[in-house]
Amino acid sequence: MPRTRSVTVRAPAKVNLQLSVGGLREDGFHELANVYLAVSGYDEITATPADRLSLTVSGAGAERVPADESNLAARAATLLAKHSGAEPNVRIHITKHLPVAGGMAGGSADAAGALVACEALWNLGMTRAELACLAAELGSDVPFSVLGGAALGLGRGEQLTPLVCGATYHWVFAIARFGLSTPAVYAAQDRHRQEADLPFTAADMPAPQPSAQLLDALAAGDPQALAASLSNDLESVATAMQPDLAKTLAAGRASGALAGMLCGTGATTGFLAADAGAAEHIAEQLMASGTCSSTLVAHGPVPGPVLL
Ligand code: C5P
Repeated sequence: MPRTRSVTVRAPAKVNLQLSVGGLREDGFHELANVYLAVSGYDEITATPADRLSLTVSGAGAERVPADESNLAARAATLLAKHSGAEPNVRIHITKHLPVAGGMAGGSADAAGALVACEALWNLGMTRAELACLAAELGSDVPFSVLGGAALGLGRGEQLTPLVCGATYHWVFAIARFGLSTPAVYAAQDRHRQEADLPFTAADMPAPQPSAQLLDALAAGDPQALAASLSNDLESVATAMQPDLAKTLAAGRASGALAGMLCGTGATTGFLAADAGAAEHIAEQLMASGTCSSTLVAHGPVPGPVLL
């Protein structure tokens, strides 16, 4: 029996511990070696039975999120309904806490949350693995956002292998006053490679590989070793596009972070802390530096979307 009442889930953000960008493929995506970690910053997604599909958004940055059928969460509800032979008769409400255009997979979290909420609302009996398969049609990061935890993502990021994490890692995220467009950052990376006469197509480059040092550090639960092996190929082009990012990275590193890096395609920056106390201190120092609009203190790994 389908439920008649609302279902609310909270869906986590992610940080990329490794983002290695290989060549541009003919389908417009890049080959990646992505190491994802789900962290404890959340959007809330509520699905309520209705006569037709509709979507509303509230919370931080809501005015920058499309509140129509182009929203990834609305597309998720439509896709799941089509897959199960139902009509997408649901009202979706998203309460934003995660940065918009922030590189923390906020939009993918909303899509994953909508899949999980609608699956429960419509009582479809699907597993998370089945939802993750479907999620690849919505975006490269959505399958990981359905599963959570820690995972290696190959291909365009959607071919996932769960990873062992030996500890909970503590992070501070500095939310920028600006966003960065994901396609624009990837395109800038391609231009940079072309201008430097470097190979840039998937046909001319080997597929990127996960860092063994990073996977070992992650499994060992050693934040110092993890800090030494974090990497994001897009950090230098994103910093060239938004030079203020360098100031945020410098402020976080100077306040005792073990490492600082760009999150995904930005514009959020992430700082790994030795422990929860250090994370609070780094967050205070980052706010005092005036180089970001807000901070988020979070830990990971955390599971994928959870029903509230
Ligand atoms: O998969 P998603 O829709 O989130 O990707 C958004 C954009 O990011 C793509 O249109 C593409 O420009 C870029 N992208 C990419 N390679 C990937 C993932 C995303 O070039 N592996």
